[in-house]
Amino acid sequence: MPQSLSPQQLKTIAGEFGTPLYVYHAEKIKEQYEKLVTAFDNMNTVFFYACKALTNVNILKYVKSLGANIDCSSINEVKLAFHAGFPAERILYTSNGIAFDEIAEAKALGVIINIDSLSNLEKFGKRFGHSYPVGIRLRPNILAGGNLKISTGHDKSKFGIPVDQVEKILSLVKQYDLHIKDLHIHTGSEIKDVDVFLKGIEVLFEIVAHFPELEFIDLGGGFKVPYQDGDSETDMQLLAKKVKEEFTRHAETRGKDLQIWFEPGKFIVSECGYFITKVNVIKETHAADFVSVDSGFNHLIRPMFYDAYHRIENISNLQGPEKKYSVVGNICETDTFAWDRKLTEVNEGDYLVFYNAGAYGFEMSSNFNSRYKPAEVLVKDGKAQLIRKRDVFDDLLRNQLEIL
Ligand code: LLP
Repeated sequence: MPQSLSPQQLKTIAGEFGTPLYVYHAEKIKEQYEKLVTAFDNMNTVFFYACKALTNVNILKYVKSLGANIDCSSINEVKLAFHAGFPAERILYTSNGIAFDEIAEAKALGVIINIDSLSNLEKFGKRFGHSYPVGIRLRPNILAGGNLKISTGHDKSKFGIPVDQVEKILSLVKQYDLHIKDLHIHTGSEIKDVDVFLKGIEVLFEIVAHFPELEFIDLGGGFKVPYQDGDSETDMQLLAKKVKEEFTRHAETRGKDLQIWFEPGKFIVSECGYFITKVNVIKETHAADFVSVDSGFNHLIRPMFYDAYHRIENISNLQGPEKKYSVVGNICETDTFAWDRKLTEVNEGDYLVFYNAGAYGFEMSSNFNSRYKPAEVLVKDGKAQLIRKRDVFDDLLRNQLEIL
């Protein structure tokens, strides 16, 4: 049975904890994780939760309890992962463009490291040589993903070492006797077409023979989740079947079995998340009927930043007649959440829920306009509990030094 929270539950939670509010449903996270594990159950596969999507420590602990490993994109995410109880061998740090000091720190902490530039690979070689295994993030030169801003594997992207520079990688490997344990790619976010992953595998399989100590192939994250009615998610059964075919063929021809890694973020936490807002003002104009909620792109930036679509529902008037509205925020520049969106009739004080808000929602929020960041609530075993307090006025001043 798909796990979701009912509008009635969400209304009760909003009444108890106030708005704007992020609500996460633990059992939905479990359902998504199990979909992955089940699809790949007869394969040598490990899933690292890309925690950049949502780092509340309760979510990290919960994901850990499900058996997932964790993928981090900064040294602070690595430290949060330790805080949540992940052991070093279950923590992957996929760095990009960072100062070498951070890589050295990650090495000292004993976590798995992927390096994404020749420059840092060389520094790593000079400092650690063969003594510490390392992975390489490659840029496969494949265009994929829902939007150019979230496409990372194409031939103009900053991410990874371009696969056409493999000779340079090999000469560093030789010079410093590097112990290359995994090859990594991440082509983008919201990839529905499973062939994109197969293309990535093809690119990697062309070069794996150069890396005799290789144990893992890391295919990154980027599985699609359904944001709109009628959307579908990446077909995991199909993906698993095709990936298995490729890896079996490879193992047969090369006589070597490689473990497969994935780094899903959205797939694990997007649908568990609900962002609840309250309607402040309704403004009827010739251009549109604006519904202004007690939030803005300071709390959910995806619509303005990526033209992302989030399904919105008026949970205070589920049966009302439908009308078209522009749903906007309350900050001092254009912050439209939805244009010409059909909603059941909206009145001031109603609760509007944004669905699929678990991934990159709270995580990308800010204090712009000196507004407070929202509170977060986790619903687990039917019980709603606060997992992050709403900011208070002192939070706005906390790190400021008043010198005048
Ligand atoms: N691995 C690496 C190296 C990544 O850079 C990312 C995402 C992931 C895994 C997880 O990708 P996912 O499964 O979540 O698609 N803020 C954007 C998404 C940016 C993704 C950045 N990297 C959004 O809200 O759509």
